[in-house]
Amino acid sequence: MDPLSFGSVVKEARAKLDFNKFAKHLVQRVFGYYSLEGDHKFLQMYSNKHLMGDGLVVMTQAMMSNLQNLMLHSFGSGDDQNGWQDDGLFKYSYNIVFRAGYLALFGNKTPTQPEGLEKAKEADRLESDELFYEFRKYDQLFPNLAYGVLGPNEKMEAERLKRLFWNMLSVQKVSTRDNISGWVLDQQQVRAERGMEESMQDRFMFLLLWASQGNTGPSAFWLLLFLMKHPEAMKAVRAEVEQVLRETGQEVKRGGPLIDLTRDMLLKTPVLDSTVEETLRLTAAPVLTRAVLQDMALKMADGREYSIRKGDRVALFPYTAVHMDPEVHPDPATFKYDRFLTSDGVRKTDFYKNGRKVKYYTMPWGAGVTMCPGRFFATNELKQFIFLMLSYFDFELKDPDDKMPDIDVRRWGFGSMQPTRDISFRYRLKF
Ligand code: HEM
Repeated sequence: MDPLSFGSVVKEARAKLDFNKFAKHLVQRVFGYYSLEGDHKFLQMYSNKHLMGDGLVVMTQAMMSNLQNLMLHSFGSGDDQNGWQDDGLFKYSYNIVFRAGYLALFGNKTPTQPEGLEKAKEADRLESDELFYEFRKYDQLFPNLAYGVLGPNEKMEAERLKRLFWNMLSVQKVSTRDNISGWVLDQQQVRAERGMEESMQDRFMFLLLWASQGNTGPSAFWLLLFLMKHPEAMKAVRAEVEQVLRETGQEVKRGGPLIDLTRDMLLKTPVLDSTVEETLRLTAAPVLTRAVLQDMALKMADGREYSIRKGDRVALFPYTAVHMDPEVHPDPATFKYDRFLTSDGVRKTDFYKNGRKVKYYTMPWGAGVTMCPGRFFATNELKQFIFLMLSYFDFELKDPDDKMPDIDVRRWGFGSMQPTRDISFRYRLKF
């Protein structure tokens, strides 16, 4: 569909085009979760409260301290100093961002006496790594699971993993933790108050993990890879990162305090913002699906009308319709870190097709009522990860001539794309 006509789907009243029916069915089949009346309203309410505005200040802090625990725990300890570590860039980025995001949302191990905080931090590192290991197995089964085409063995494995997550993330286990985010806590409490069985609340916890952790890690990989493949982008982002740190009087040095990054500091990074937006334009490909609840006409921007019937489904795929439209985004297959910057260096929002301004010029987060409520937190997660990588690590591709890996098209429609293969890199702490 022509992106100028997207509004006719995205803004249509729920009585005509409904997102809920399809989503409800999918979460039942894939996550075994049966929603409550008003479920979506609570999801929106608590996401707005905790993942945006003042709530985002708290979440950004939590993310920062968990990223530091995972990435910098050996900083200054003398361990592995100056030693290069080899890894897959996808595995590394997804692992770190998934685990830090999980700990920021689901809380930390409560320190016990006499072991104390360091032991609890170590337990966070180990437990989150185990969770990620199992999550990746489920993640890989996910496209076929969602399409309902798993083989018998895969089906059994998916069932085993689902039960494992219900257990690992159970309300009982999570409630013993410190620093649980308001996002997780409020959503669990409202369901408990409304009489949802605890076993169903456990299932909901897994749904929250999935929605919050399945996309940001893969996006962190693409972002870092694009930067490594485009020296001019890396140079511009590095200059911005250094400037933000300088302006807040922070310096990374041996024996010095770890840098802090607040939500407010992350509001002053137009170059990195544009780089993130460009990365998502090229690598986030959700499908927006709506069920048609009554016979109706869909009006296109050029005046045409399509009659659609009750029972039909309408789906938008912005990736081909607008992300890769050469009229809206010239040379669309090329990564241009400053595509979303004006000549004055501020965020660019003017994009045109047929001489008309396009409102929905990229849609990595979907749009309308189901638009991702985690988008500000996710963007901050990505930016914090890049800040720490650039400030504390030397890193390089093992083979600088290695081509960009292809996108695994089996995941088209599910949000952030994953590569068909990993790419080798090495990294080491700078100090
Ligand atoms: C780069 C990272 C992310 C991407 C690309 C992304 C993308 C999306 C998209 C496309 C949707 C809409 C799906 C639809 O229309 O049905 C969505 C929904 C959602 N996302 Fe995200 N997301 C990301 C990160 C996050 C994070 C970090 C959180 C939470 C902390 C989150 C929480 C949610 C929730 C709760 C929904 C369901 C919203 C609803 O049904 O109203 N997402 N996300």
